[in-house]
Amino acid sequence: MRKSTKIRLFAPGIILGAGIAVATLGMLGVAPDTHAAGTAPDRKICDDKDNPPKDAVTQGGCVVISRTKGNCMACHRIAGVPSGDIAPPLAEVSKRIPDKARLRAQIDDAPKLNPNTVMPPFGRHGILTQDEVDKVVEFLLTL
Ligand code: HEC
Repeated sequence: MRKSTKIRLFAPGIILGAGIAVATLGMLGVAPDTHAAGTAPDRKICDDKDNPPKDAVTQGGCVVISRTKGNCMACHRIAGVPSGDIAPPLAEVSKRIPDKARLRAQIDDAPKLNPNTVMPPFGRHGILTQDEVDKVVEFLLTL
């Protein structure tokens, strides 16, 4: 009994520690200015109208952290951006959901997988285009 409780607390502890480290680095102004694998792209890259990101992974990351598009960090912890904690952290999500079609379905129409979820049906409701859903999946696969 006691052992399993410890194990369950261990993983969130590590994730929390990592989150604090990222937040601290961010405050010190030493956050990387491009996105390292596992982190969100820098907003400056996303907002650069003259030279918009051309690769699908960065474009997907920009959709994820855009407040007017994915806004995924409202609910999910994502390394590299201030984020909420009412849903599972997205770190290493591709290890938990290795099946790309299943991952895509989660973004396209989460309530279809779980009718009680608070996660919006981004594709089905047209919050994101199908192309944006694809790019979000490409980004998630790098986490
Ligand atoms: C309003 C809150 C909310 C928003 C916004 C939201 N999600 Fe979620 N998401 C959830 C919740 C809650 C779950 C947990 C599973 C469930 O509810 O069925 C979840 C589950 C997931 C999962 C499965 C995670 C796992 O480990 O099983 C992925 C992947 C995911 N969300 C990605 C995203 C992405 C990408 C975005 C932005 C495009 C997003 N979510 C926006 C609430 C949200």
